[in-house]
Amino acid sequence: MKVCVIGAGYIGLTIAVCLAKMGNELLLLDIDAQKVKNINNKTSTIHENFLDELLQQVDIEMSSDPGKMEGAETIFICVGTPLNKNGSMSLEQVVEAAKQVSEVLKRREDYCLIVVKSTVPPGTTEDIVIPLLQKSGKKAGKDFGICMSPEFLSAGKAVYEFMNPSRIVVGQYDKRSGDGPLKLFSSFNVPILRTNLRTAEMIKLASNSFLATKISFMNEIGNICKQLGIDAYEVAKGMGFDDRIGSKFLNAGIGFGGSCLPKDLNILVAAAKETGYAPRILEEVLEFNDKQALKLIELLKKHILLNGATVGLLGLAFKPGTDDVRDSRAIRIVEALLKERAVVKAYDPVAISNFKKLFPQIGYVSREEILNCDAILITTEWEEFNELDYRGRIVIDGRRILKAREAKIYEGVCW
Ligand code: UDX
Repeated sequence: MKVCVIGAGYIGLTIAVCLAKMGNELLLLDIDAQKVKNINNKTSTIHENFLDELLQQVDIEMSSDPGKMEGAETIFICVGTPLNKNGSMSLEQVVEAAKQVSEVLKRREDYCLIVVKSTVPPGTTEDIVIPLLQKSGKKAGKDFGICMSPEFLSAGKAVYEFMNPSRIVVGQYDKRSGDGPLKLFSSFNVPILRTNLRTAEMIKLASNSFLATKISFMNEIGNICKQLGIDAYEVAKGMGFDDRIGSKFLNAGIGFGGSCLPKDLNILVAAAKETGYAPRILEEVLEFNDKQALKLIELLKKHILLNGATVGLLGLAFKPGTDDVRDSRAIRIVEALLKERAVVKAYDPVAISNFKKLFPQIGYVSREEILNCDAILITTEWEEFNELDYRGRIVIDGRRILKAREAKIYEGVCW
């Protein structure tokens, strides 16, 4: 099938590469000239397991010319939906992509399918995308099909999860629209749920909000455990055997970051408030998560005076397996350390260059040099942090690195 993917971000690039690997003819569009150049040179623009290898194996046409999507049978909209500075969501890129598709629809005589993959507030496909597409003079359901099919890929595992999804959710304008994506994924033996457009949009937001709430719940239990001298990880193990609870996403620590969980919670909170409903649980999860990272600083202050002390940070990525630092807990922690006039040194196996753009003023050193700091904070659970010799050091651990327990002074945030 001839497929076009608009947006070569982490979802768009993964989808394009995987669909090409499955034998489809792929056109990938992005306005960023550097990305176009890199991908045409077969260099991935993101750090994602298996993506580089797959990119070498497939042929993808990468371009910034929307006119090229003319022959595509299916067009995926995978552009970013970042939060504005005031916390509201920017749909600018979705609107721009819909306008580009609309221009192409004007000139097309044949039926094609448009699939929205970007995470958007409920109602966006119906109230914003379809009207923009219909400005072409073509009619949804008759001249073109439209679906909203959310993506549940997590960073670091995106390729694996694309090929082995937990479920496929297809929000469809009509039956013919919904049949389209299912043809592409007919080889996958997974549960398929067909819904209307806004339900599919809500499923994505509700899923990520639930995961965020689960983490925060466990962090709250962890904070109580810490007060009572109980290990939250043993408690989580005991809870996880109950399959109504499940053992995943019960790792207590300094909270969640990344480009999805915090943003999707914000989108859902805003969508709820627009209807006049106050989403108290979700708002509390966001606020609680914001404070959880600072527990590490509270614990550190029990052991050293921060003013003038050199504090070493192990981990800058929002989680292991990625160079993504968006909403990483390390950001909150570095801000707090600088406010307390500590000297900050940091190490991460892959995320230093991204973090440097946010904090050019701190020191970036090797992981061994971190060991020479007055105290060490562990902020991402990279496996390699188990290779360090922590003996004689002060370590405050936000992510449970077992080897760090050998330190002279060791404190876990929830254990
Ligand atoms: C998330 C969703 O999992 C995925 O389905 C969706 O498509 C995109 O958003 P991702 O942002 O890649 O994926 O990260 P995830 O693995 O969910 O972790 C998010 C954050 O939660 C990380 O900062 C991680 O360290 C933290 N986390 C996760 C915990 O603190 N404890 C846990 O038990 C699990």
